[in-house]
Amino acid sequence: MESILIYGGIPLQGQVRIQGSKNAALPILAATILVGGGVFLENCPKITDVFRMTEILKQLGCLVLWEKDGLHICTDSMKSTPLVGEDVRKMRSSICMLGALLSRTGEAVVDYPGGCVIGSRPIDLHIENLQKMGAMFQEEEHFLRGRAKTLKGASLRLPIASVGATENCILAACKAEGVTRIVGAAREPEVSALCEFLNHCGAKIEGIGESILCIEGQKKLMGCRFRIPADRIVAGTYLFATVGTGGSVFLKDAPVEQMEKVIQTAEKMGALCQPLSDGLFVERTGHLANPYKIETGEYPGFPTDLQSVILPLLCKGMGNTGVIENIFEDRFRILPSLKKMGAEIQQLDAHRVLVKGGKNLHGKNIEAQELRGGAGLVLAGLMADGETVLSGVEYIDRGYVNICRDFRELGARVIRV
Ligand code: UD1
Repeated sequence: MESILIYGGIPLQGQVRIQGSKNAALPILAATILVGGGVFLENCPKITDVFRMTEILKQLGCLVLWEKDGLHICTDSMKSTPLVGEDVRKMRSSICMLGALLSRTGEAVVDYPGGCVIGSRPIDLHIENLQKMGAMFQEEEHFLRGRAKTLKGASLRLPIASVGATENCILAACKAEGVTRIVGAAREPEVSALCEFLNHCGAKIEGIGESILCIEGQKKLMGCRFRIPADRIVAGTYLFATVGTGGSVFLKDAPVEQMEKVIQTAEKMGALCQPLSDGLFVERTGHLANPYKIETGEYPGFPTDLQSVILPLLCKGMGNTGVIENIFEDRFRILPSLKKMGAEIQQLDAHRVLVKGGKNLHGKNIEAQELRGGAGLVLAGLMADGETVLSGVEYIDRGYVNICRDFRELGARVIRV
């Protein structure tokens, strides 16, 4: 098992390029099975989740070839194959194949990571809405089986603006018979990227970026060349690392227009953020000051994926902060590690913590348990005095192409051992 060794306390300086977006790439990879001819995806991030998704495509008989940071995909030779096995189980977002598979082959057999999923929270909205379009589901011992002779356009409503459920509905609708209206659609930029990709291929999706999407099903979609947009969560991670260490960094290609809330938060904490034509310049100009409250929300709110990334800054900054996590129930998993490093954080309930600022963090042996929490602990290590040894690196590899290299280029002392 590999670890990351961090010698903290160095302000980050210089320039780093922001990679392509994981959450945009994954549903677009699923969407390629709806598209005839070849697709070329530029700027595709080389991360474990993307590798797993390409393995899934290969399992289905598709052709996948990397050319530098680009991916050639041809799904013409695809066969209807059950999606079972480790790659599917390990990546929960393989569920975004559901709508695409039903549309392409009329059948989807998808493994799931144990337990009863129909009716419980995680994918109830996906299932419910695909059913409205004519799909039928059956829960078998280890997998979920869906069938749809023909998918028909329908009026869909999402009571929670779920990103994954919105994407599944879009994937099912863009080749369905007739028109689909999705009310309460997620407005995350990654959903918009999926819609833009599909429209480039000939789909007719209107209302991109809004909470009502209107999709007119098309008989045929044809391959295109498409650039995966930059990752706003990676950009936010490097932005907060800069603010936390008191540095000054140019985040090349950062998608500034998608980062309004994040930039506002950083500015409240003492950062100077200057959007430029090809990225974002960030510098901490004064003391690290804590906002009174941070509350995660659906886009354009503060992203839940950056909640654990900002926590180490709140431990050190001046003032106390209430953090409210509105999207997920189990997203404070890094608290024990931060406390071990010297933080003072009180968990009030599953959704709320109170962080007492002004504490120095000290390097310790700690362990990542999930992707964004892992990135948060890298930041804690960068801000701490002394040596931090962080295990559980494989979780971070799911979403960051090379976090150690990037921070080293910015002057940090970080190595993978
Ligand atoms: C996506 C992102 C993830 C991000 C999240 C919220 C990908 C691959 N992942 O995850 O990084 O943190 O959006 O921005 O894009 N829910 C239900 N029933 C459902 C579906 C969701 O109750 O059928 C609930 C979830 O339990 C959660 C909330 O809706 O509380 C939001 O989840 P959702 O937007 O679906 O997140 P993901 O698409 O899984």
